[in-house]
Amino acid sequence: MPPFAPLVFSGVQPTGNLHLGNYLGAIKRFVQLQATHNCIYCVVDLHAITVPQKPAELTAHIREVTAAFIACGIDPKAHIIFNQSQVSAHAELAFILNCTARLGWLNRMTQFKDKAGKDRENASVGLYTYPVLMAADILVYRATHVPVGEDQKQHLELSRDIAQKFNLDFAPTIAEKGFGEAFFPLPEPLIQGPATRVMSLREGTKKMSKSDASDNSRINLSDNADVIAQKFRRARTDADVLPTEVAGLAGRPEADNLVGIYAALQDTDKANVLRQFGNANFATFKAALVDLSVARLGPIGHEMQKLQADPGYIDSVLKDGAGRARAIANANLDAVKDIVGLLR
Ligand code: TYM
Repeated sequence: MPPFAPLVFSGVQPTGNLHLGNYLGAIKRFVQLQATHNCIYCVVDLHAITVPQKPAELTAHIREVTAAFIACGIDPKAHIIFNQSQVSAHAELAFILNCTARLGWLNRMTQFKDKAGKDRENASVGLYTYPVLMAADILVYRATHVPVGEDQKQHLELSRDIAQKFNLDFAPTIAEKGFGEAFFPLPEPLIQGPATRVMSLREGTKKMSKSDASDNSRINLSDNADVIAQKFRRARTDADVLPTEVAGLAGRPEADNLVGIYAALQDTDKANVLRQFGNANFATFKAALVDLSVARLGPIGHEMQKLQADPGYIDSVLKDGAGRARAIANANLDAVKDIVGLLR
């Protein structure tokens, strides 16, 4: 495999209710990676329409995720922020990769099974092929590293399978056109840190999710200090004090979750949090968690509000980012067309 220039790509769906899981599992990592990598961060609006969306709300949510990216600390000048539908190469490559991906591979995707539920016949075709579009998002930039939460792991594995099969299927033309042994890198998932799977505050075995009917199950990036305090105070726990060692969190999903959240917000690990709070009761720990959360999330929520009050600015960021993304994506898509034998 030839060396590929390191490039980070990731995406967030504009489906409303951005929450602490999105922040700690993904966006906070996006911010950190800017120091060491070139980064492309995408508001994946085409993914959002795989389930019904109200048009005006979708537009607002695209701007909301963009505002969150900037408010959390992504620099749209040094890196790239844009929305997927402005770069048509994503959808074009997705079709070509639909012809590489196998039905059997897609049939194994657990997220489709979860989202389609019992009424699978009535799910959109877009929802079924969603993971192929996701592979195209990454591969159209020949990105090498993809920071995501744990729930995206299976989709990332599929992206690697698709990249590998394309490289094999077209190996002779890839070599002939001067791309060496492989055109696509096998993108590496970056699933790291103490909060790769933030759980619901109401049920420690269920993922914190945008679509949970109970708003008390999640901390939204737009929640104010009072709401954050109230939600953490109401968060489900068990009756014990906190353990002094990480091993003591086994079988205590709620405690494990809150300790992981604290660790991620404090940029440390669970062991260190337990050195600070081992033997503390939950009332004490939750009070500290509220203070830390408000200190970290308060400025983000405030900045998001300010940015969202100026949609003209947000739209200009997306337009500028789309222009720069398009230049990279179109060049790679042209190469793919040459490799496949499509005239252009
Ligand atoms: P989405 O929009 O559901 O979530 C955005 C990011 O947040 C992470 N995340 C979580 N992390 C920890 N704990 C949680 N409870 C939690 N909930 C969500 C997700 O893992 C994700 O990293 N299919 C993707 C979007 C996408 C994408 C891509 C990502 C489309 N194309 C290409 C990477 C590369 C999704 O639906 O994420």
